[in-house]
Parts: sequence; structure tokens; C-alpha cells
Amino acid sequence: MKIPLSPRLRVCCGFVFPGERVADVGTDHGYLGIWLLQQGLASSVIASDVVPGPLSAAKRNAEKFGCAHLMEFYLSDGVQSIPRDFDTLVCAGMGADTMVSILSAAPWLQDRRYRLILQCQSKRPMLRRYLSDNGWRITEESVVRDGRFLYTVMEVYYEPGHPLTPGQCYFPPALLENPALELPEFYRRVTDNLKYAIDAQGDHAPAQLRQAYNELWNDPDLQWLKEATK
Ligand SMILES: C[S@@+](CC[C@H](N)C(=O)[O-])C[C@H]1O[C@@H](n2cnc3c(N)ncnc32)[C@H](O)[C@@H]1O
Repeated sequence: MKIPLSPRLRVCCGFVFPGERVADVGTDHGYLGIWLLQQGLASSVIASDVVPGPLSAAKRNAEKFGCAHLMEFYLSDGVQSIPRDFDTLVCAGMGADTMVSILSAAPWLQDRRYRLILQCQSKRPMLRRYLSDNGWRITEESVVRDGRFLYTVMEVYYEPGHPLTPGQCYFPPALLENPALELPEFYRRVTDNLKYAIDAQGDHAPAQLRQAYNELWNDPDLQWLKEATK
């Protein structure tokens, strides 16, 4: 029996390299890991959650879909109580505050042997600012439509020396590496939201917000995104 996977989680899975050992932190139902194992993409999966109920559901689903022998389950706040022998860490469906607290509590992750796949539900610019300020580099980022929402999925390595400007925290260059069909709409939404926030705050709008908007609106490399949504 194949597990039905949302477009959002499918894009996360698309970042996994064949044979990788994956840690799915905040696994909830466990679907991502189960799907990776069913496809023969991951070689093993560590599934963890900070809440016992979801972790039990993940275990039940792993049994039901015949993957339990390739999965390990941990009750853990972030990566605090999971083994460190994995290649890629996936955190999906969480907000920036949670992701930042998970990463800040684990300096051992700041090592080129680990790769992060992050699908952040809220405050993405804040997450990108944190990553940039702490030596993490977003090497690729994809936009995905799921229902009426546009999400992004980031591939991240520890590679200091690639700071993001204020505008790039809203729309990083990594989005242009492999542009999704939804990219022009995403650009439009980001710039519209910035403009709305600036107009709403008038003279009190933070300089960083204005700088971000001006950068994105005037960047010659991004003009095609504007044209595409006219
Ligand atoms: C909205 S669900 C997302 C589930 C799945 N990753 C997905 O994207 O569909 C978020 C899950 O993260 C778990 N979670 C929240 N904070 C966490 C933390 N600090 N460490 C581990 N898991 C956490 C929650 O218990 C919940 O099961």
C-alpha cells in the first residue's frame, strides 16, 4: 500500500539523495519517512517528535505500511535525544521560531556532513536571517503550491561567508537556482506583502523593510518575475 503524500512533502522528499540516512524531526504522522522508504530513496529514517501522540501515530503508520524495520522512533525536543548518525535532517511544517530553537540548541549540526531540508510554515524571512547570521547557506529553495498556499522548501548547508541582504531574506537568490512555475506569483506575493506592511506603518516602517522592498522591486535580475505576473 502506497502512502498518499501532499505536494508540500513531496517537494521535501525531492531534495533527498538516494541512499541517505534521513532524520525527520517533527514527524507527526511519519508519512515523509515512510514515503522515502517505500520509494527506496532513503536507506533508513529516524522519526522524532516532541509529543508522544504523534510519535505513536508514526509508529502505527510505519507498521501499517511495512516500513517499521527501517525506522527508529524517538521522543525528542528537536535533535536533543536522537542519534547523530544521519546525513540529512528534515524539518517540515513548523514555524521559524521552532526551527530556530531546534538549530540553536544543536551547535553540533554546524558541520558540512549534515544537510538540512527546511519547510517553514511562518516567518520565513526571520528563519533566513537566522540562517545567514549563523553561517548557514541556503543552496537551493523551491516554491510549491499545496491547496491555496504557496510554501517553500530550502536546502541548507553549514557554509559561513554567504550573508543575505535584507531583500534576500524575503526572496533569496537560491530561489532562482531552479525556478518553479509558481515563482513569479511568489515574488508578487512577497513584494505585495512588503508594500502593504510599509504602507500600513507609514513613517514608522522599519528601514530594513523599506530596504528589502526597494532591493526586490528594483533588482534587474528579478524584473522578469514582475513581467510574468502582469
Ligand atoms: C504541523 S506538524 C508537521 C508534521 C510533518 N512534519 C509535516 O510537515 O506534515 C508539526 C509537528 O512538529 C512537532 N514539533 C513541534 N515542535 C517540535 C520540537 N521542538 N521538536 C520535535 N518536534 C516538534 C509537533 O508535535 C508536530 O507533530
